[in-house]
Amino acid sequence: MMSGLFHNIAYKLHRVGFYMYSVKYYYMDHCHGMSKIKCLFESIITNLKIFNYRYGYYEYLEIPITTKCSLRCKYCSNLISYYKKKCDYDSTILINGIKTFLRCIHNIVYVRVLGGEPFLSKNLYRVLRVLLKSNKIQRIEVVTNGTIVPTDERIISILRNKRIIVCISRYPIVDYRKLVVFLKENGIRYRLDKMHYWMNYGNTKKRNKTKKELMKQYASCNHVCKSLVNGQIHLCPRSSHGTDLGIIKNNKDDYLDLLDETMSIREKKKRINDLFRKKYIMACDYCDYGTKKCKKIKVAEQIK
Ligand SMILES: C[S@@+](CC[C@H](N)C(=O)[O-])C[C@H]1O[C@@H](n2cnc3c(N)ncnc32)[C@H](O)[C@@H]1O
Ligand code: SF4
Ligand code: SF4
Repeated sequence: MMSGLFHNIAYKLHRVGFYMYSVKYYYMDHCHGMSKIKCLFESIITNLKIFNYRYGYYEYLEIPITTKCSLRCKYCSNLISYYKKKCDYDSTILINGIKTFLRCIHNIVYVRVLGGEPFLSKNLYRVLRVLLKSNKIQRIEVVTNGTIVPTDERIISILRNKRIIVCISRYPIVDYRKLVVFLKENGIRYRLDKMHYWMNYGNTKKRNKTKKELMKQYASCNHVCKSLVNGQIHLCPRSSHGTDLGIIKNNKDDYLDLLDETMSIREKKKRINDLFRKKYIMACDYCDYGTKKCKKIKVAEQIK
């Protein structure tokens, strides 16, 4: 009970963090030719909507564009090492899912494009182009393991956009310096994300927890990383990729199928709102995160 309350507060605080970024980006992007005070005030007030999903203001969405990867991390949170045949996600489904999501919302602070390894994917340019066309997205992050330096001129050029930042996961096993030099030379914004440890989400077997246990676990998980796979918005990558892989039983209450043509945009908006306020999902029954079993582990340990 206490831990659920504690984590509910932690989740709210997390949203405060996103709110601050949202205010900052709004201020940077909207205030040309306006009085600074007026603009700041407008930004502070407008972005308060992030605290009630009813207004369509969201904090964060991950978009995996491929299951191809240059590493084989044993405990990858996106279960990438479980994919036997690795490939790019179908670009039409990907783009339709993104466009439908954008029709359902007013604003989102961060969209993260990842995989797998996004620099291995043919989808990267098209996805970035679609994302950049929308002024509902404040910032776009491309998350990379640092092993690959892009060579496609169109990608290099689009990455220079000031709304994009390349986030390099700093893995001890990877020499990412070549990529850093390249990004600097090409005027591309980047950030080095140092991780001191990873978490072990456990195996993918069903654990048969009670509803009470699932609710407690979900409350203890930060579930910030909403994930769009196959046109479905899931509440975390374990749920989206686990369902995609067929490891987690397909449970329609765990996600929203944005490509369901029997539903209007109005209905989808409502369903996103309901989904984001869920108290647990069945995918948690295949996961240890948020329980005592979930331990800290070495970052990016490889499958031998
Ligand atoms: C799944 S990766 C995909 C992008 C890219 N391949 C990479 O490794 O940066 C996205 C982020 O999840 C993090 N991640 C993966 N597995 C994790 C785990 N078990 N615990 C904590 N973070 C994890 C990675 O470090 C990375 O920053
Ligand atoms: S964490 Fe990143 S680099 Fe490692 S297997 Fe997963 S997607 Fe690939
Ligand atoms: S399956 Fe549940 S507990 Fe595991 S990461 Fe996803 S939301 Fe959190």
